[in-house]
Order: sequence, then C-alpha cells, then structure tokens
Amino acid sequence: MAVQINPSILSADFARLADEAKAVEGADWLHVDVMDNHFVPNLTLGVPVVESLARATDTPLDCHLMIEAPDRWAPQYVEAGAGSVTFHVEAAAAPVRLAREIRAKGARASMALKPATPIEPYEDLLPELDMLLIMTVEPGFGGQAFLDIMLPKIRRTRELIDKHGLELWLQVDGGVSASTIERCADAGADVFVAGSAVYGASDPAEAVRALRNQAEA
Ligand code: DX5
Ligand code: ZN
Repeated sequence: MAVQINPSILSADFARLADEAKAVEGADWLHVDVMDNHFVPNLTLGVPVVESLARATDTPLDCHLMIEAPDRWAPQYVEAGAGSVTFHVEAAAAPVRLAREIRAKGARASMALKPATPIEPYEDLLPELDMLLIMTVEPGFGGQAFLDIMLPKIRRTRELIDKHGLELWLQVDGGVSASTIERCADAGADVFVAGSAVYGASDPAEAVRALRNQAEA
C-alpha cells in the first residue's frame, strides 16, 4: 500500500496560499480544511478559495468538509476543482447518496469519522467510498495532541477494508507528526494529513519527505 502525505493548509499563511501550496510540491495531495463555525467551532474558507487554489497549484486538492449540510455543499467543491471530497458522516443526511453524487461528478468520495464515532455501523457503506478518514483529534483546530486511543479504531478499520478486499484508502488527520506517524502506519493507515508538522517546519518540503520515509519504514 503506497503511502501518501497530504499537508494541511490550515497551518499555512492564508494570505500566501499559492506560495504555500508550492512550498510542498512533492506532496501527494493538498489537504484543505473547510470549517463553517457550526459543525466545528472555527471558520476557515469556502468554495471561492478552493476554486482559486485549484487554479494556483498542480497538486490535487483533498477537501475536508467540517460543515453542516454537506449533502448540499459537497458537490460544489467538486465543481470548484477538488479531486477528493470528504464529508462527515455525523453531518450527512444521506451518506450513500452523497458519496455516489461526489463520484458521479468525477471526484473521489470520502467519509470522515469524529473520534467518538465508531466504524462498525458503517461497514456496509465502505464499498461506496474511495477513502475513509479517521480523525485523531476532535476536528476544528490544527496543532492539537494526537489521540492514541484512536489506534484500535484504525486497526479495526484496516481489518474491515482487507476483509472486504477493498481498494479504499485509510486517512488519518490530527496530530500526525514525526513522533506519531509510525504508530498510525503500523495500525494500517496509508494517507497522512499533517498541518503543523509540515508548515511549522523550517523546510516544509523536507518535512513531507521525512514523514514519508518514516511512514514507509
Ligand atoms: C483539524 C483539521 C486538520 C488539521 C490538522 O480539524 O482537520 O486537518 O489541519 O492539523 P495538525 O496536523 O496540526 O494536527
Ligand atoms: Zn482536516
């Protein structure tokens, strides 16, 4: 399983997004955190910024929607140029219909679980998805401490993916750094979001390479 490193622009300088995207060329995807101050207690950016960012970089955009009413909004992020759109199952009214709509519009469909949301009720939905995101912090802010207690959920999800023989990618997001990425990889994650560990480094591109080496080890 190929390792992918997705820097989160939540930790970048929002006034210099195009340059910040270029600073991590070599990354697999650019992770774009959309927050609406309702689903999470923070507010970031929306469709127009994603449209501009998609024009400004060749790195595909991995949009993580931490918003209410993703059924209404997610398709607009595909139209804005996102290559992958993640909605939270806690907010989606009709997750299967939404995943199918995202795929039909031409993007990868992904579903996220907050720390307290179990994977088991969603086992039968996995074939509808291209990626599953397990949050390893409570969504809303960068720079929080990694929740070790999520490792068993990552492991159980990997077992379900393998049991069904699915190609599904397994993403982790929150507190992923040099000191936690190996535990995530051991548990079965293959797509790693890192905000502060990349943009807090003096050389973000080097931080991406270092994280990749660690996850592959
Ligand atoms: C948190 C966001 C994350 C955030 C991760 O709600 O979904 O993508 O940017 O930041 P770090 O890597 O600093 O925990
Ligand atoms: Zn995120």
